[in-house]
Amino acid sequence: MDWGWQNRMARMFPAPTGRTVMLAVDHGYFMGPTHGLEVPRQTLAPLLGLCDAVALTRGVLRTSVPPSTTTPVVLRVSGGASVVGADLSHEALTTSVEDALRLNVSAVAMSVFVGSAHEHESLVNLGALVNQGEAVGLPVMGITAVGKELDKRDARYLSLASRIAAEQGAHVVKTYYCEDGFSRVVEGCPVPIVVAGGPRLETDRAVLELVHASISAGARGVDMGRNIWQSDHPVSMLKAIRSIVHEDCTVKEALQALEEARLAPTAREPRADASPVRA
Ligand code: 5RP
Repeated sequence: MDWGWQNRMARMFPAPTGRTVMLAVDHGYFMGPTHGLEVPRQTLAPLLGLCDAVALTRGVLRTSVPPSTTTPVVLRVSGGASVVGADLSHEALTTSVEDALRLNVSAVAMSVFVGSAHEHESLVNLGALVNQGEAVGLPVMGITAVGKELDKRDARYLSLASRIAAEQGAHVVKTYYCEDGFSRVVEGCPVPIVVAGGPRLETDRAVLELVHASISAGARGVDMGRNIWQSDHPVSMLKAIRSIVHEDCTVKEALQALEEARLAPTAREPRADASPVRA
């Protein structure tokens, strides 16, 4: 790949670890104003400077991210379905590579729905996006989406979907962690894997264990949203995740730092604008 592609990848996976903590705030493209992300600008303000990259849509980028930011942007370019519609897998490419370049992003991202009614379209679209991205030096991240079928997330399915996305040419694959056999998912995928967090977990420990287990099994980072910005202390949670991804901290160490930050009276974090809409 040419220098531009390499530069974009190096900025998303910064030295010295070559790992990444991406902040995912792209949920509104099918969920609307999800709890914790009702006002993206407010959610992003304290977190943007602390992540290695931010994953969002062009609507949130244009309205809620200062153009002066130096944080690399991973632009979601697929959509076309909603959480109240008939089929979440019925997506297409909705944002052009030309717009992605105009927005000066570091990568583009789209979901693939392996095993769904629209498997074929999503995979063909991924191949087309890779063709367009490689022509202009834009890395492409394939996201192995499961829609509402969260139970699908076992090693067999995630290996299959991740490998298929990589074979279509995705340069990075975002998938889920699974307790049994996640290292097989990583081994079977010839490009870097980053792990999504999924719906909010019950405890901080569970979040940090997921991150630690993912990195230990060979993931090159995380691309997490709800478990950060739905947390009672998003900044401290993001920092704790960073300590595992970039400093190889144990869960115990990260949890201790998180607890100290949470209990410090001066470090209380304002919650994002609360609203009755919950996802
Ligand atoms: C939404 C996405 C999210 O970016 C992905 O699921 C990561 O966010 P979370 O950690 O909240 O699951 O792809 O479609």
